Amino acid sequence: MRIGILKETDIEEVLELENACFAHPWPRSAFEEMLTGDTAEYYAARDEDGTLMGGAALFFLSGEGDITNVAVFDRYRNRGIATALLEYLIEDGRRKGIREFTLETRESNLPAIAVYEKNGFTVEGRRPGFYRDPVEDALVMWLR
Ligand SMILES: CC(C)(COP(=O)(O)OP(=O)(O)OC[C@H]1O[C@@H](n2cnc3c(N)ncnc32)[C@H](O)[C@@H]1OP(=O)(O)O)[C@@H](O)C(=O)NCCC(=O)NCCS
Repeated sequence: MRIGILKETDIEEVLELENACFAHPWPRSAFEEMLTGDTAEYYAARDEDGTLMGGAALFFLSGEGDITNVAVFDRYRNRGIATALLEYLIEDGRRKGIREFTLETRESNLPAIAVYEKNGFTVEGRRPGFYRDPVEDALVMWLR
C-alpha cells in the first residue's frame, strides 16, 4: 500500500469512492476546493498498481485538524487501510503544526469508532440528531 497526498487530477476517483461509501456524498465542488485551496489536504491509499483503495481529508483550523470523508471501498475493508491512512494523516498534520485533531461519527458506526480509537481518539461529546437518513446522534472524538 502507498499513502500520499491526492492531486487535483485524481478527483474522479475520489468522487467514485465518496459515492460508493456515503448516503450523502460531498459534491465535486467541495473536493475541488479542498484540492486547490490551502486549508485542507486529501490523503489517498493506493495498492501496488495505483488503484485507489481509500482516502481521508484533513482541514486545518488554527492549530486544530478536522478529519472528514474517511472512506475505504467495501472490497478493501478490514485490512487496516483506514487505520494506516489516519496514522499517516496525523503524522503529516503534526508536521504542519496541528496539535489537536477532531472528527464526528455516527454512534452506530463501530468499524469507524474502532479505527479512531486505534489511533488514540476518545469520545468527548455528542451532537443529538446530527445525521439524517437515518437520524442519529454524532459522537465527537478528539485526539489531543
Ligand atoms: C470506517 C471505514 C473507513 C473503516 O475502514 P477499514 O479500512 O476497513 O478499517 P480498518 O481495517 O483499519 O479497521 C476496521 C476495524 O473495525 C473493526 N470492525 C469491523 N466491523 C466491525 C463491527 N461490526 N463491529 C465492531 N468492529 C468492527 C475491525 O475489526 C477493525 O478493527 P481491528 O483492526 O481492531 O480488528 C470503512 O468501513 C468505510 O469506508 N465505511 C463507510 C464510510 C464510513 O462510515 N466512514 C467513516 C465516517 S465517520
